[in-house]
Amino acid sequence: MNDKPEKFIDENGLRLDGRQINEIRPMTIKIGVLSRADGSCYLEWGNNKVLVAVYGPRELHPRRLQKSDSALIRYRYNMAAFSVEERVRPGPSRRSIEISKVSREAFEPVVMTQLYPGAVIDVFAEVLQADAGTRTAAINAASIALADAGIPMKGLVAACAVGKVDDKLVLDLNKPEDNYGQADLPIAMTQDGDITLVQMDGDLSQEEFKQAVEMCKEGCRQILEIQKEALKNKFADDTAVNIPDDIDEVTYVEAIVEFDIEEDEYPEEDDISGESEDEDEDTGSLDEEGEPEDIEEEFIDIVEEAADEEEITEGSDIREQ
Ligand code: CDP
Repeated sequence: MNDKPEKFIDENGLRLDGRQINEIRPMTIKIGVLSRADGSCYLEWGNNKVLVAVYGPRELHPRRLQKSDSALIRYRYNMAAFSVEERVRPGPSRRSIEISKVSREAFEPVVMTQLYPGAVIDVFAEVLQADAGTRTAAINAASIALADAGIPMKGLVAACAVGKVDDKLVLDLNKPEDNYGQADLPIAMTQDGDITLVQMDGDLSQEEFKQAVEMCKEGCRQILEIQKEALKNKFADDTAVNIPDDIDEVTYVEAIVEFDIEEDEYPEEDDISGESEDEDEDTGSLDEEGEPEDIEEEFIDIVEEAADEEEITEGSDIREQ
């Protein structure tokens, strides 16, 4: 292990890796990297490398573990044996069990588990290379992987840590800052600014704690933007291709509308039905199910108009709610 640096912040206010005190490390995100998972994400953050796979919602076995009114979320954080300087012993440790628990709790308020009674949603977070902040890196990746799996959520979750070195608060600790710093405060936050995880090591005064939380929230806001951008790019690519064969166009468009149009902008039933209140008025020809044939076309027109106005790409609102 490297020795403790003499100074963490130089005379220009820059940290050992050249960052400002309120700057996060560069983050790159790849979505859908695992073909067998329902959703997946590979994320690099500074020197951290994490891979998250999401499976589900699927029926939970044994059945006695099922919850009758909601799905169960299982979250497993694991460090690969080769992810750190000193080999990590394979299998669960006190640390990984604790991180798994708090990370699961960070998602419980946003994942709409009530939609899937008796089901389980499994999140596997594998740390391939660790350089401080792995629990927050895994949460950031898990958030994307859950969205990639199409799990309904009230919004994304983003996480980062603030610490204290040389008596100053710094955002997103790197390894020396984490190992030798005076404090470490990881936080996870929803898109609405609600905090779903807080942990703390070390010492902070009350005033410092308040400042640290604000700094962390700002970091999380930046991460949320990166996450949204990654998802937009992925969905833009996907939807540019084709509507999947097994989904008919209207179902597909309805799914988009559900996420893309604010409730108060949702077209009234009457606006889209093509039906007239006047029974005598010509309602046009009917299809096999007795519905006027032009319903689908009108409905799609309305949706496309709304999407044009909003300049929203399909599926984006699951990330923007
Ligand atoms: O990674 P995170 O900051 O969420 O958790 P931590 O327990 O504060 O660990 C900080 C860093 O210490 C990790 O990111 C690893 O780089 C390192 N570490 C290690 O070298 N060996 C371990 N068994 C656990 C952590």
